[in-house]
Formats: sequence, C-alpha cells, structure tokens
Amino acid sequence: MLNIVIFGAPGSGKGTQSERIIQEFGLDHISTGDVLRAEIKGGTELGRIASKYIEKGQLVPDELIIDMLAKVLDSKENSKGVIFDGFPRTIPQAKALKKMLNERNTDVTVMLNLQVEDEELINRLLERGKVSGRSDDNLETIQSRLKVYHTQTAPLAEYYIQEGKHAAIKGVGTIEEIFASIKEAVNSVNA
Ligand code: AP5
Ligand code: MG
Repeated sequence: MLNIVIFGAPGSGKGTQSERIIQEFGLDHISTGDVLRAEIKGGTELGRIASKYIEKGQLVPDELIIDMLAKVLDSKENSKGVIFDGFPRTIPQAKALKKMLNERNTDVTVMLNLQVEDEELINRLLERGKVSGRSDDNLETIQSRLKVYHTQTAPLAEYYIQEGKHAAIKGVGTIEEIFASIKEAVNSVNA
C-alpha cells in the first residue's frame, strides 16, 4: 500500500495537492477537516463538539479525532493506499496512526511537508474566505490556527524525520510545479 501523510500549515495546499495525488496514484483520501465539516453539517453530536474548536482555530481533542479516523479507515478496506490530509496533527495522533496501520499490516510510506511562509498562508486563506463559507477563514481564526500549527503540529516533522519518512516540499509556486516535486518525492520512495 502507498500511504501518504500530506502535512503543512493551514493554507499550505494540502487539499489542493491531494486532489492531484489521488488522480495520479489512485488513492483514497481522508481529510479530517472535511469529515468534521460533514459532521457539523449533519448536526451530529461529534459535529456539535467539533464546531466549537474549529471556530476558535483550536484542535479537536485527540480521542475524538482518533476514534473518527479509525472508523473512516475501516470504510476504506481494499484500498490501494490512503492519503491522510490534516491528520496526524499531534504526536499522539501520529502514534495512533502508526498503530492502526501496523494492525492492518501496513505503515506510512512518506510524509510530504509543504513549506509556505505565514504571510502567504494568511493571504491565501483570506482570499479563500471570500467564497469558502468556512467558519475559520477569517483573520482572527487564521491567526489562531497558525499559532496552533507552530506550537502543536509543526513538531511532528521531527517525528517523521526520525521514522525516516520526511520529505520537505517547497509549497510556493504554481500548483503544477509543486505537484511535480510531490511526484518526484513519492516515486522515489514507491519505486
Ligand atoms: P483542516 O480542514 O485540515 O484545515 P487546515 O489545516 O487549516 O488547512 P486548510 O484546509 O485551510 O488548507 P489546505 O492546506 O488544505 O490548503 P488548500 O489546498 O485548501 O482543519 C480545520 C480544523 O478542523 C482545524 O483547525 C481543527 O480545528 C480541526 N481538525 C482537522 N483535523 C484535525 C486533527 N487531525 N486534529 C484535531 N483537529 C483537527 O489551499 C488553501 C488556498 O490556497 C485555496 O484557496 C487554494 O486554492 C489556494 N492555493 C493552493 N495552492 C496554491 C498555490 N500553489 N499558489 C497559490 N494559491 C494556492
Ligand atoms: Mg484542507
């Protein structure tokens, strides 16, 4: 199986590049942000809890996310591989993912770390906010998401460096240029 973690700050292009990766490699896509937004739309208990965190730009508690992820993963049986978008975001989530995949006789193949400066991220998200309808695409929440990213999520790069699975990707340029770097990184570990 080819299991890819696509990683990066809010607005770094995880969702945008995931669409291309799925087409190129025939993978399933799990975006925890998309799953949570669907739960909110569906008015579920999880959605009600999650919306409070999302609006403030904070992380939803690990236990809720890990349970949710396990259920979604079980629905992707017989898959060629999965692209994990927006998960893991904390060390406990990364450890839980490893355990879940190992139990299924597989593991993370590579972690793609999209690197983009904060100023560019803010511009992209404010621009997206004009049309996205996302409750977190406003300046105050964007700033809090970036802070959470730098303090709680960015340290995960070190975890994947130690696992020998980290690939740094320059996340600035055209979508096609960035995708070309991603393809190169994936092909070099998937040969
Ligand atoms: P989530 O939905 O994962 O949001 P995020 O990480 O904040 O990232 P975004 O979806 O905003 O950005 P992206 O990297 O996908 O970029 P995109 O491709 O859209 O999470 C939302 C919330 O849910 C979290 O804050 C948290 O509360 C909760 N949550 C989710 N997962 C969780 C977890 N595991 N644990 C705990 N809580 C969790 O691109 C952004 C914009 O830029 C777009 O408009 C795009 O068109 C544009 N763009 C893309 N590429 C380029 C380019 N190369 N040049 C110019 N513009 C570009
Ligand atoms: Mg996204």
